[in-house]
Amino acid sequence: MIRQVCINCGEEHEADEIVYFCRRCGDLLEIEYDYEEMAERLERSDWRSLPLSVWRYRDFLPIRDLSKVVSLNEGGTGLHLCSRLAKVIGLKRVYVKNEGENPTGSFKDRGMTVGVTKALELNMKTVICASTGNTSASLAAYAAKAGLRCIVLVPSGKIAYGKLVQALAYGAEIVQVRGNFDQALRTVIELSERHGEVYLLNSINPYRLEGQKSLAYEVCDQLGGRAPDRVVLPVGNAGNISALWKGFTEFYRLGLVDSLPRMVGVQAEGASPIAQAIKRGSNVVTPVESPETVATAIRIGAPVSWKKALRAIRDSDGTAETVTDEEILEAQSMLARCEGLFVEPASASSIAGLKNMVELGEIDRDETVVCVATGHGLKDPDVMRRVGKPLEADADVQSIERLLGLTRPPRIEAS
Ligand code: F0G
Repeated sequence: MIRQVCINCGEEHEADEIVYFCRRCGDLLEIEYDYEEMAERLERSDWRSLPLSVWRYRDFLPIRDLSKVVSLNEGGTGLHLCSRLAKVIGLKRVYVKNEGENPTGSFKDRGMTVGVTKALELNMKTVICASTGNTSASLAAYAAKAGLRCIVLVPSGKIAYGKLVQALAYGAEIVQVRGNFDQALRTVIELSERHGEVYLLNSINPYRLEGQKSLAYEVCDQLGGRAPDRVVLPVGNAGNISALWKGFTEFYRLGLVDSLPRMVGVQAEGASPIAQAIKRGSNVVTPVESPETVATAIRIGAPVSWKKALRAIRDSDGTAETVTDEEILEAQSMLARCEGLFVEPASASSIAGLKNMVELGEIDRDETVVCVATGHGLKDPDVMRRVGKPLEADADVQSIERLLGLTRPPRIEAS
């Protein structure tokens, strides 16, 4: 039994009702299951023998007709033990969950495989989203695979070039709106409410977040059936932190792990309404009028899932941090050079946030920490100006030796 339940008043909505906000009080919805039924299904299931991927967890997901699944092989991303990074930061065990390994290069694919499958189940022909880039690239790919029309609204001039190229290549209709992400999101919400045939796949859609929770399941399985002590991740519109917390609590509830992690949300200083609310100890989030950061993916001033995010942070005894653009870019470079993981600026904010927490003594040296790197570095080539320029030389051995200070090998004489 699957229902869409309001997080505020508990009002229940049918699983197949096309609704984005509670019909009674207007708050966000969340998918609820009968967990006893789920536990019984798991007893009979071979899920543990399936390879790591979103659909390994099909028994935990709200899709029953698997013949409709739209998949590009999402999930199953690496959980990299980063010993060199840990040493630099001053911790014993730091893992990076590298979501750039997903088909379109970000964690959004986990949500879209479920969200677009749901769109097919509901017989929708058009899907829509507002995006700072990754959501649009991901939705465009899954819509292409499913044969659906895809419309995306992006803030004009402010999204990373690689992401725009992806969405165009997958054949989406892209509208650059004169305004920021928050305004684009308000517009697509209104459009989908006016046009019932247009299915909204921003993270307001609780089905999408169900796919994203698989990241938490995977981390527990990759750690051998244990939850980490702490999970650090970037927060923009605040869907992902909520999804991950739901995943961890479900695994705990089902007895698949025996502890829960503390959730740390990291925001860029110029776009940090949630971190400010946590620091103030407030139950409401005050939107930032003109959000600004080099991490364009999380350049969001009015996060739609703020209430779920505050709940995830507080229920997990977690916290929220802010990081400067400078710290983000430094962390991006450090991760690439120490560990061979090239991630986009928003993703690197989790490493920057962790580093700050260690410096402030807010984290125990012995903790097992997982940082989520949400998207691939190649998506945002503009920030590559920061990585320096190649050297130049004539194409002969002597020039290269001179340039790099390579000494000539000693000659070995034949005896
Ligand atoms: N990291 C990256 C790389 C993202 O693209 C996003 C969100 C986040 C983190 C934050 O996740 O919104 O769930 O808190 N990108 C959205 C987009 C907004 O349109 O691609 P969140």
